[in-house]
Amino acid sequence: MSADRGLWITFEGGDGSGKTTQSRLLQEWIEATGRTVVRTREPGGTEVGVLIRDIVLHHRGDIAPRAEALLYAADRAHHVATLVEPALARGEVVIQDRYLDSSVAYQGAGRVLDATEVRDLSLWATGGALPDVTVLLDLDPAVARVRLDAVDKPFDRLEAEKADFHARVRAAFLALAETEPERFLVLDASRSVEELAAAVRARIEPLL
Ligand code: TYD
Repeated sequence: MSADRGLWITFEGGDGSGKTTQSRLLQEWIEATGRTVVRTREPGGTEVGVLIRDIVLHHRGDIAPRAEALLYAADRAHHVATLVEPALARGEVVIQDRYLDSSVAYQGAGRVLDATEVRDLSLWATGGALPDVTVLLDLDPAVARVRLDAVDKPFDRLEAEKADFHARVRAAFLALAETEPERFLVLDASRSVEELAAAVRARIEPLL
């Protein structure tokens, strides 16, 4: 990594684990240091991505598992090429909700596809790009469910999947974190918002 390349941080975790809140707090804190932050997400971080997001999250009826994996990978390929890599090349900080670990956890472990193939597909899509730090907000899906129920918005297609699916997703995220302990920061997402934000800042501060 060249000296003036930016910093790329991703947040991962199940639905309702608090990724959006934590990425927003991290953005505010980093911006206060004077760095430029690009906050983005997958799926849907670009105009093309918004169209793909609409298909994968809101299409009524089944999408074949390989087609679904390719749609997420297509979103990812365009996102990294047109938004993430240019921002990093400008020396900016990219804070991103979800990246390829979500595909491995949701499409790989959660469904019928092989996790290694799903990961390789995303790596092909992005030319092998991996974040500097990935924060995994780990939460019991039952607790996450209570949190999501408190928010007045309709379930999307994936949120409506069964509880055992979410348990498998959680286990897959934890297994991924074990294979790459240097990239991952695993946090117990049942802790308070402020405690979690402080733990994230402690991990990121030396890298700024
Ligand atoms: P998210 O944007 O976190 O949803 P919301 O903003 O509605 O809380 O994630 C959307 C859903 O997409 C989530 O259920 C996980 C799923 N997903 C995958 O299955 N594979 C992927 O590669 C990604 C990025 C997301």
